[in-house]
Amino acid sequence: MENKNKKIALIIGGSRGIGKAIALRLAKSGFDIWLTYRSNQPAAEEVKKEIEQIGRFCVLFCFDVSNYQATEAALQKVADLNPPEVVVYNAGITRDNLMVWMTKEEWSSVLATNLDGFYNVMHVVLFPMLREKQGRIVVVSSTSGQIGQAGQVNYSASKAGLIGAAKALAREVGKKNIFVNVVAPGVIETEMTMELPKEKILPLIPIQRFGSPDDVASVVNFLCTEKNMYIHGQVIGINGGLAI
Ligand SMILES: NC(=O)c1ccc[n+]([C@@H]2O[C@H](COP(=O)([O-])OP(=O)(O)OC[C@H]3O[C@@H](n4cnc5c(N)ncnc54)[C@H](OP(=O)(O)O)[C@@H]3O)[C@@H](O)[C@H]2O)c1
Repeated sequence: MENKNKKIALIIGGSRGIGKAIALRLAKSGFDIWLTYRSNQPAAEEVKKEIEQIGRFCVLFCFDVSNYQATEAALQKVADLNPPEVVVYNAGITRDNLMVWMTKEEWSSVLATNLDGFYNVMHVVLFPMLREKQGRIVVVSSTSGQIGQAGQVNYSASKAGLIGAAKALAREVGKKNIFVNVVAPGVIETEMTMELPKEKILPLIPIQRFGSPDDVASVVNFLCTEKNMYIHGQVIGINGGLAI
């Protein structure tokens, strides 16, 4: 791996939407980017190009985070050689349905990607990060994980699970100078939310607009770059007041 820059940010699920905005923002802050995605290679290549235009390196990794062996095969060697300073766990999917109709597949696929994936990634990269005795981990949860959302029992469970996991991890690794925090976006305009009935949701948002990926990226950037840092184990809502 030619990328010898120590300042590496590993963005899990960085090919589109919020993850893409986070990758570009951290590249502007001087990080080289390891960008992972599941299958959308053209989108990932486009982000890589934009990162290179900013003047930073970008390495792409294609694997399914719900698969431990695939995650280990993609990341173990490179993380051992050059531990990332920043990890953003952003990969996530929805398979919405009312609980009475929810299939086992809808439940399991969401938990496997959103929550098991966090274990898979962290189990591979955490030990090398601990050796460095510095780092920032940001987990992308959701308002749904904080207050619940009808039709999203699977998704809310996975996102609440991430909050618990991140808080516990924060207690484990704080003494190693690794900061762990969670961002919980509300409704952000990406492909994931394209089909939502926006006219019904908008009146619930005091700021009276949906969020943009950049609204999330700016907070993640702060959590990953701020030198005067005393925020640890916290959940930061980015929701325009949807949940207060
Ligand atoms: N949009 C919102 O309103 C909103 C609100 C709250 C929280 N969030 C959370 O924010 C995160 C990003 O959301 P988004 O709206 O930007 O989603 P998105 O546009 O659908 O992008 C999802 C990203 O995750 C990757 N991904 C999905 N499943 C994966 C898997 N099994 N293995 C590896 N990578 C996988 C995708 O890769 P490919 O491109 O290859 O598919 C893509 O890079 C998610 O965790 C989501 O739950 C979103």
